Amino acid sequence: MVTLSDTTTIGVLGAGAMGSGIAQVAATAGHPVVLQDVDEAAISRARSGIEKTLARLVEKGRLMPEAAQAIGGRIRYVASREMQAFAPCGLVIEAIVERLAVKQESFAALEKVVAADTLLASNTSALAITAIASACQRSERVLGLHFFNPAPLLPLVEIVRGHATAAEAIDAGCDLMRRWGKTGVVAADTPGFIVNRVARPFYGEALRILDERIADCATIDWAMQTLGGFKMGPFELMDLIGNDVNFAVTLAVFEQFFFDPRYKPSLTQKRLVNANLLGRKTGRGYYDYRDGAAKPAPTQDAEMGRAIVDRIIAMLINEAVDAVFWGVATPADVDLAMVKGVNYPKGLIAWAEEIGYPVVLERLERLQREYGEDRYRPSPLLRRLAHPARTL
Ligand code: NAI
Repeated sequence: MVTLSDTTTIGVLGAGAMGSGIAQVAATAGHPVVLQDVDEAAISRARSGIEKTLARLVEKGRLMPEAAQAIGGRIRYVASREMQAFAPCGLVIEAIVERLAVKQESFAALEKVVAADTLLASNTSALAITAIASACQRSERVLGLHFFNPAPLLPLVEIVRGHATAAEAIDAGCDLMRRWGKTGVVAADTPGFIVNRVARPFYGEALRILDERIADCATIDWAMQTLGGFKMGPFELMDLIGNDVNFAVTLAVFEQFFFDPRYKPSLTQKRLVNANLLGRKTGRGYYDYRDGAAKPAPTQDAEMGRAIVDRIIAMLINEAVDAVFWGVATPADVDLAMVKGVNYPKGLIAWAEEIGYPVVLERLERLQREYGEDRYRPSPLLRRLAHPARTL
């Protein structure tokens, strides 16, 4: 397997939001970069976007003009369907449209031009790395490198181990991400990897509380921010992400887990998507962002707020512990992923240890008793951690 040095040529296929960000990161780390897209317009947008970003960094004094020039000069922009430009690459990161057949076709074509030991990575959010890799002869060289948007700013990268991925490929990915100044966490090839799986209850349970009319959006957001310590409440955040995007991720995770009720999407969110109330980008979502619209005031009832936070945190901890139970990632990587990827005030495992596993278990058992739903079933590992003497 190839060793990736600081001068290895890095290929990036797809020059959209993610591809151009990843190309900038790789060029900043000193690599020659080939950034390719089928769409000429995407290539010129990527070029002017990267140049603008570098110029802004120079203006702010964060980058010397010569350094910016050198970074820009390391990126070769290619508008083509042919893969020939990737021939010298030691690693190619794919960031094209999220469609399995298109990704498989691209990986098969890439494999025909690159060296036998070139690593091939996908930035997919929701597709299985194993399924993408199945298009390759040497599927052991295929891994996931899941960056977060915007890639130059967000430190987390999930390094995803597909069914056939070689240990050396994961090690090389981890080592490279560290050298790029990223926080790498290793995840198994399961739906949503770490962050998009473990974060589901942050939105899902908040929506459930809203749907049950226990509290309104403003009150839930207030509770999660003020009492929970989160930078943004779930509804504000869904409006920022876009309800279409957030709903699509939830649906993808739900479907890929064979409709496990734990990930069941909310009809309320679906209706917002149906109504094109996508959040900030359309001017309305859970909140109204149009000029002159008043922001609804939360009901600042500390007892109710505490109950909301306790319920959502218990669900988040259950999900984090369950991810560890199923071997998705180590406890340390699950915590790192949520802090670095989605800015949680602390890791969920660390939080569970603070609250005490028996307390978290009791909260979930109470919800499960009340609703009689599988949605609230505690992870077997949570039970084990709550009563170690009973199971060891
Ligand atoms: P985008 O729509 O901004 O860019 C995709 C680019 O790929 C477009 O420029 C398109 O012309 C190009 N493309 C499509 N088919 C191609 C092909 N066959 N060959 C070469 N280029 C092709 O999409 P975005 O947001 O950059 O997403 C790219 C990938 O990254 C997707 O797999 C997505 O799931 C993933 N991702 C997206 C994140 C986000 O927040 N936008 C976060 C993390 C991962």
